[in-house]
Amino acid sequence: MNRSHPIGIFDSGYGGLTILKDIRKQLPQYDYLYLGDNARTPYGTRSFDVVYEFTLQAVKKLFEMGCQLVILACNTASAKALRTIQQTDLPKIAPNKRVLGVIRPSAEEVDRLTRNKHVGILGTKGTVSSMSYVLELEKLHNGTLTVSQETCPMWVPIVENNEIGTPGANYFIQKNINNILSADPLIDTLILGCTHYPMLTQSIKMFLPATVQIIEQGPIVAQKLADYLNRHPEMESVCSTGGSVQYFTTETSNNFNNMASLFLNEPIEAKTIRL
Ligand code: DGL
Repeated sequence: MNRSHPIGIFDSGYGGLTILKDIRKQLPQYDYLYLGDNARTPYGTRSFDVVYEFTLQAVKKLFEMGCQLVILACNTASAKALRTIQQTDLPKIAPNKRVLGVIRPSAEEVDRLTRNKHVGILGTKGTVSSMSYVLELEKLHNGTLTVSQETCPMWVPIVENNEIGTPGANYFIQKNINNILSADPLIDTLILGCTHYPMLTQSIKMFLPATVQIIEQGPIVAQKLADYLNRHPEMESVCSTGGSVQYFTTETSNNFNNMASLFLNEPIEAKTIRL
């Protein structure tokens, strides 16, 4: 193959790195292209129209850069933009390309993970108010689950500004955990419904009873991507297999490199692009 066709991984900022890490662990053979819209993060507080517009711009850019398959490694973008992109845009702009999200894969797995059917979802304002998880879980599991949601508006800024582990950060984390456990004290499974949140797992654990399990999406999305590629050999065969990863950000690359290297524990050299 003379042109590389990496798998595109998109997030509003650094959060998608948590997904990329697990995808690369499970599927190291493919090429990847990571794009963080750090200049316009966070998406979680933005309107439906704006998140859709920004996400579509990013998807188009990743297509231009050779991606045939793009993963929206962002719950907010998956909640607010994925359906329209899949149903309205793709047939017009790129009928043979695919865009997948992170909400459905996570929702599919919940039933297997919870023991008592009481589930909590932590997410951005956009994800929570879209009701995407609640609706998806209802559809998939016929109303057998009791689902509570909590908006955690400070958690993405904590990650984006590397305030992880500070007393200020812990104050907000404890507050949101207490809120969701007061809404349903029986919760045994907490879904981190924002790809930034796994960076806060150690802090979250400090405020959770040991009986509550925390579900990170990375391993789930990686497994579902592997299943998808098995079921779609026509897509699998166009994804190039050089084992490379390239990083792009809409912010200055210095900022991105420092933070991303910290999160991934390896040196990162990103390039700046405009959408
Ligand atoms: N990481 C994203 C998510 O999964 C978005 C966070 C944001 O930009 O607000 O929702």
